[in-house]
Amino acid sequence: MIIAIDGPAAAGKGTLARRLADHFGLAFLDTGSLYRAVGAKVLRAGQDPAHNKAAKSAAESLSPADLQAPELRTEAVGAAASVVAAQPAVRDALLAFQRNFARRPPGGAKGAVLDGRDIGTVICPEPDVVKFFVHASPEARAERRFKELQAKGDSATYARVLQDMNDRDTRDASRGVAALKKAADAYDLDTTGLSPDQVFEKALAHIQSRSRA
Ligand code: DC
Repeated sequence: MIIAIDGPAAAGKGTLARRLADHFGLAFLDTGSLYRAVGAKVLRAGQDPAHNKAAKSAAESLSPADLQAPELRTEAVGAAASVVAAQPAVRDALLAFQRNFARRPPGGAKGAVLDGRDIGTVICPEPDVVKFFVHASPEARAERRFKELQAKGDSATYARVLQDMNDRDTRDASRGVAALKKAADAYDLDTTGLSPDQVFEKALAHIQSRSRA
């Protein structure tokens, strides 16, 4: 069983992906962390994420330790990730790892859940893959991200978070390669106003209805 979950930032993809992975005993890959690790590596080297050569070389030399970088979840790294993710050479360098994870999950798991922007459209477009497109209004997503940052003691304002989110959405949806979009056969899941439990129940109901069909 392969489950692909795509959608914009802070729409609830990660929470849903982890819960589905736990529920079905599947391996989980947050593919955004790969792009974040590339962005963080470029920033740490004092280079510009928009510089194609620097980003390509960071992606091609990515190691498991890079995925543990402490700054991975910061807004600065998120923005750098979105810039490196627009570059075809970076996406190419990360493609085989993601496909391999989906088809041959680690630890003997009987399947995998991957969340990102292009899982259902590029990484795992096959019809046997259960696909979700998870989204919410920009204001609801900015509110969630703002609360997460506040809980971490970050001094970002709501207006700033909303602006950054809109910039990132525009970049992710308008890039020439693997732009963020719903796969034709993905289940549309609007999480605005829904609790994580409600989102999980809706996703589960969809998976069950598919297996009955
Ligand atoms: O999901 P996230 O916020 O951690 O992702 C960080 C950035 O990585 C996001 O702005 C776009 C990019 N990304 C991507 O292009 N493709 C993916 N499959 C996952 C993330």
